[in-house]
Amino acid sequence: MDTIKPLDKLRVRRGKALLGGGEKRISEQHAKGKLTARERIDLLVDADSFEEFDLFVRHQCQNFGMEKYVYDGDGVVTGSATINGRVVYIFSQDFTVFGGSLSKTYAEKICKIMDMALKNGCPLIGINDSGGARIQEGIDALAGYAEIFWRNVMSSGVIPQISAILGPCAGGAVYSPAITDFVVMERHNSYMFVTGPKVLKTVLNEDVTTEELGGAKIHASKSGVAHFLADSEEETMLLIKKLLSYLPSNNMEDPPVCPSPDPVTRACTELNDIIPENPNKPYDILDVIHPIVDDGEFLQVMRNFAQNIVVGFGRLNGHTVGMVANQPRFLAGVLDIDASVKAARFVRFCDAFNIPLVVLEDVPGFLPGTNQEHNGIIRNGAKLLYAFAEATVPKITVILRKAYGGAYCVMNSRHMRADLVYAWPTAEIAVMGAPGAVEVIFRKEAKASENPKQVLKDREAEYREEFANPYRAAERGFVDDIIEPALTRFRLVRALEMLANKKDSIPPRKHGNMPL
Ligand code: HXC
Repeated sequence: MDTIKPLDKLRVRRGKALLGGGEKRISEQHAKGKLTARERIDLLVDADSFEEFDLFVRHQCQNFGMEKYVYDGDGVVTGSATINGRVVYIFSQDFTVFGGSLSKTYAEKICKIMDMALKNGCPLIGINDSGGARIQEGIDALAGYAEIFWRNVMSSGVIPQISAILGPCAGGAVYSPAITDFVVMERHNSYMFVTGPKVLKTVLNEDVTTEELGGAKIHASKSGVAHFLADSEEETMLLIKKLLSYLPSNNMEDPPVCPSPDPVTRACTELNDIIPENPNKPYDILDVIHPIVDDGEFLQVMRNFAQNIVVGFGRLNGHTVGMVANQPRFLAGVLDIDASVKAARFVRFCDAFNIPLVVLEDVPGFLPGTNQEHNGIIRNGAKLLYAFAEATVPKITVILRKAYGGAYCVMNSRHMRADLVYAWPTAEIAVMGAPGAVEVIFRKEAKASENPKQVLKDREAEYREEFANPYRAAERGFVDDIIEPALTRFRLVRALEMLANKKDSIPPRKHGNMPL
């Protein structure tokens, strides 16, 4: 009888394990336009850097004849690798094995690398492509999910957690990506929902396709679940690499410094004329952000959701900054529920990971209306206020044009403990815009006069002269300096240098009680 040598046995078993569900299933995966779990990891990490764990782990289910179907690795590839030389931990769900469904042992594999990521202070990246809980395993699979969720929560604010969605992600399984800091969805093959279209048809008689219900586009534009939309799996991986380049590996580190040849003293002369003379005319805030940051490079987060506020990462003199900017091109840059929640989460992420905040402000106020009031603009707008107030990283605000009413207070004002507040000469800092203000305070006077229109017009001009400028605020020290727009980049770089050693803390407590 031939005996297989130990080394040969290892090679054979490893070779088989590396094929996951086998060649036929791999072809089916490719036919759907999807890569395999391992191909995805290869795309993401530095060449030959992946160190795999638990390749030989098998499920232990004995129900429904499952003991006859056993695959080494059990449907998820886990391990550690480097991305641009920095260590990360990864799991990649393998749809070729039981549809990537999660068993007890599969969950244990994920938990093992989650624990290692947390202990070693390294980012965690989850690649999702799964039919959810492995139905044959019942409660064991549910317990596995809950163990993952718990670790997601414990890791939150300690290590960056990033989810790529490259296939199905349904049922309670959605809650692991939901807790992670960033969700990237591939446009063609990914979807996420708590309850799928078939159940909706049965229970609610609702007709909806998978894509309409939980496709990438919906989550990137409507629900706010996805932070990035990628056109392909390749683009997904590029995005994750780019995102990581802005982030520290954990909350005890500063973000990596990425020196740039872009001179810090480069004047952005185009900014001197960017604000239109007519205060009601919009402009694109991205035309302000791009000239300011190093090499014009800005990674926008949630670009298709709540477009009235722009958030994202850029660099100033090589240092990562988190930008929060009102966007006058959409809804005049007003703050509404979605914009407040979007920006609040971003501010909290930056604060957790030592990323200074730069706020570019041009905000006419909070969006009025029954819809906003009934859906809770009060408690949702408060989230942004709370996030800015609580943040202890360096915080700098530049008021470009409007800073009206409560929105002035909320948008990282001096009173929310902004470290430095600059204003452009075009800034208007007041309780409200001139037409609304004179309507309130001079209505009686206008009504009593022979020419009410003329009275209001004169008073409006007077109000503009008095309030629609940055000088009142600067006289009180609420604005530290009124700066030439062209020098904004240089002044921000210097401000960051001044604040580089900032130490600040908030009162000790178990945790605050943000109005969620
Ligand atoms: C066990 C599963 C599975 C699952 C898929 N498979 N999902 N096995 N448990 N959850 C198996 C299929 O039986 C099939 O095996 C193989 O994987 C490929 O699946 P297909 O259906 O052929 O693939 P496709 O047509 O692409 O459809 C993919 C799918 C569908 C849409 C994901 O498989 C599906 O609807 N699966 C069930 C999804 C589901 O209801 N999951 C539970 C959600 S609740 P064979 O051998 O036949 O080819 C949940 C709770 C989590 O997850 C709670 C956390 C707290």
